[in-house]
Amino acid sequence: MIILSIETSCDETAVAVLEAKGSFSGASFTVLGNALYSQAHLHAEYGGVYPNLAKREHQKNLAPLTREALHEAGFAAKGEKRTVAPTVLAHIREVEFQKDIQSFIEENATPPIDLIAVTKGPGLEPALWAGISFAETLAKVWGVPIIGVNHMEGHIVSALMKKESDNQFAFDAVRFPVLSLLISGGHTELVLMKEWFEYELIGKTRDDAVGEAFDKVARIIGLPYPGGPEIDRAAQRARERGDLHGISLPRPMIADRGSDFSFSGLKTAVLYLVRELAELSDIIKENIAWEFEEAVRDVLVEKTRRALEKTGAKTLVVGGGVSANRTIRMGLEALVEGAYPDVQLNYPDRTLTGDNAIMIGAAAYMRHTLAKTLPGSVKAQGSLSLAEA
Ligand code: KG4
Ligand code: ZN
Repeated sequence: MIILSIETSCDETAVAVLEAKGSFSGASFTVLGNALYSQAHLHAEYGGVYPNLAKREHQKNLAPLTREALHEAGFAAKGEKRTVAPTVLAHIREVEFQKDIQSFIEENATPPIDLIAVTKGPGLEPALWAGISFAETLAKVWGVPIIGVNHMEGHIVSALMKKESDNQFAFDAVRFPVLSLLISGGHTELVLMKEWFEYELIGKTRDDAVGEAFDKVARIIGLPYPGGPEIDRAAQRARERGDLHGISLPRPMIADRGSDFSFSGLKTAVLYLVRELAELSDIIKENIAWEFEEAVRDVLVEKTRRALEKTGAKTLVVGGGVSANRTIRMGLEALVEGAYPDVQLNYPDRTLTGDNAIMIGAAAYMRHTLAKTLPGSVKAQGSLSLAEA
């Protein structure tokens, strides 16, 4: 099955073409084409993602990126060209976007796609709609079924995929139940998957997401957006120097018996600390990054430990942008090696930690082959949860 997948939930516009085979734990994916454009630098001055700018950028980039991914897949010259009836575009308000979609379809050959997958949520609704209206128009004109995918499910699936070669991924034999620690810019949750796509929420953040806390703390100490990778690097420099100079931050809710998280107090603690300081030298900034990262790691590791204990999970997956963090990875590795040697710990491949369309195509394929979701029209759901995925 050939799948065209589209992701526009946040500030990455991503399009992939996958060839998918097999089912259940034996599924494998060949990435035939993959095109991604990150808008992060455009949002940097706002210190976070600005929804209407994200929408406009997605609208601008969807056609060129899809053309690129299809071209890479070798579908550029094959197939007939279609014309677009004006009624098909009537639901799209922006004239420029309408024109882009129309010329994209009319100038390119109809590709041999069997299924279109598009992120339906959670995320920024204007951004989600850009991807959905583009995908739905292609589906209509090309006569291809379309499936809406939960972005967080994409992150879980991406961690279960093992990279076999440059453009090939396959599922390892997945051992259920799977506990997922999802840590991204918009989400922080522990979710149990008892079998494919049957979820139970174990715990979630009551305020800021972990990635959001990284981004906000970075801003407070004067590091650019997105703050996660910046803090990761700054903390590494401090660790190499090796003296914290007495900086200490709280580990919110670490002793709480429940499974929820809270990160806004940690961010506020950094804010107060910085206010009290006479000057914010590079060394102090790096030390704050170091201590902040360790505070986050300690909380994530302890909550994950309790969740493993409570659920008896056989697999632990860590997904979302923050799963790229080295200190957090090492903390979770030490936990599993030390106390749960039988638990299989999975991360996404480095190329799949951030938002991408490969994970969306793979999740759609699994839902389709397991008949968990039927193709149909897609609606943007900004705060879609996994339970209603
Ligand atoms: O999953 P993702 O790409 O987008 C969302 O769905 O939110 O996650 C983005 C988040 C940002 O907050 C970014 O700062 C954070 O992931 N991030 C990191 C690292 N790389 C990205 N946080 C900590 N350490 C990193 N190395
Ligand atoms: Zn994400």
